[in-house]
Amino acid sequence: MSLLVKGGTVVGPTGTRVADVLVEGEKIVAVLDPSYTPRITVNEVIDAAGKYVIPGGIDAHTHMEMPFGGTSASDTFDTGTRAAAYGGTTTIIDFAIQRTGEVVQDGLAAWHAKTAGECHIDYAFHMILGGVDADALKAMDRLVADEGITSFKLFMAYPGVFYSDDGQILRAMQAARENGALIMMHAENGIAIDVLVQQALERGETDPIYHGITRPAALEAEATNRAIALAEVAQDCPLYIVHLSASQALAKVAEARDQGRNVFAETCPQYLYLTLEDQLGAPGFEGAKWVCSTPLRSKHESHQRDLWKGLRNNDLAIVSTDHCPFCMKDQKELGLGDFSKIPNGIGGVEHRVDLVFQGVVDGQLSLERWVETIATTPARMFGLYPRKGIVQPGSDADLVIYDPNGATRIGTATHHMNMDYSAYEGVEIKGRVGTVISRGEVIVADGNYHGRKGRGKFLERGLSSYLI
Ligand code: URP
Ligand code: ZN
Ligand code: ZN
Ligand code: ZN
Repeated sequence: MSLLVKGGTVVGPTGTRVADVLVEGEKIVAVLDPSYTPRITVNEVIDAAGKYVIPGGIDAHTHMEMPFGGTSASDTFDTGTRAAAYGGTTTIIDFAIQRTGEVVQDGLAAWHAKTAGECHIDYAFHMILGGVDADALKAMDRLVADEGITSFKLFMAYPGVFYSDDGQILRAMQAARENGALIMMHAENGIAIDVLVQQALERGETDPIYHGITRPAALEAEATNRAIALAEVAQDCPLYIVHLSASQALAKVAEARDQGRNVFAETCPQYLYLTLEDQLGAPGFEGAKWVCSTPLRSKHESHQRDLWKGLRNNDLAIVSTDHCPFCMKDQKELGLGDFSKIPNGIGGVEHRVDLVFQGVVDGQLSLERWVETIATTPARMFGLYPRKGIVQPGSDADLVIYDPNGATRIGTATHHMNMDYSAYEGVEIKGRVGTVISRGEVIVADGNYHGRKGRGKFLERGLSSYLI
């Protein structure tokens, strides 16, 4: 089967040009000047005139069906990867989990079992290490060498669940420095946060907004700084700060990067658009919809302006969603009367490509930077490049035809995620995902779904292109 995506504006990290993209089977075989007529028989032509042709989105941070707080994230790998496809994302990197007291290989096997035959798009795993001990350190080496898992998430928060102390973090970083893995860090001082949470509950402060108030920016900055220092001691082990939300934490990352350190960070759409006051502080229990960690930050401070700036100057390399949806009914409601029991997480895997494109519309980002932060850099950072993340011959034919003149209204009535609310209800997007192609197959066309579960493949990843 061959397919020609004709006359679109192909956007890559280094520039844009009007070109035809020729696909044979699962691969891109040529990016052609439109005046050139391919000499092979083309089975299907898709007109992309006036549209952007971009590499399929890569969401490097999702949690489908993740067990958390006595329940599980409401999107399965089936529903969540289908929703991702609708939104122009053709690869996710989800987190396999080792909880404290569990064996790393068992956690990985469990995630392979959950995903087998379920995914609509390609997928890979990071591994969460919730118990760094001698066995886990050995398992790290094996995962990097044999399993295509080259990044490990550690938590400075959630004592008793995922938490690692500084000694465990240092050991994991030393191992990563040796085996070439990337350490991803949930950087919040969870020990101090738990004190603030206890004190707030004792004062009767139980509403969702206290989730944010008890996780102050200073404790994100402190943990970020500590992680950076530990990575320095581990011979500059590469470090990737996940879901960065606060200006103060960003300043620590920027300082390390200015010193030439191997430090990277991502942010998420929720931190670029939503706030402590307007969402988490919504009346009654409504704010539970936006309980996530790190939390939404105050609109009276400069966080959002600083995050956009960080995306421009590369102190923030990637926008991922941290998609971890919980319905209000029976899930978020577990925290009625006690914000600390609200499962942490926001869903948004379907909206990332659109939401970051608003940065282009608003003059915050160039077109090239949009593509770089949602596709090319995630591929490079996590060892999927050049198979993914770029429109060039030899790469997988994962393509999104994006209509900058289209419009999308986000809401529960139209989204495809398994959520009974939307974190972005009623938001009007300028732009629209048109056709989505995954390994040469049209899986979404004009809002109609043509994919199927089980077609997504597990991707064994190489080492990060950013390793020094
Ligand atoms: O609130 C969040 N972010 N839930 C998902 C787990 C995590 O820490 O990324
Ligand atoms: Zn986290
Ligand atoms: Zn800088
Ligand atoms: Zn997460």
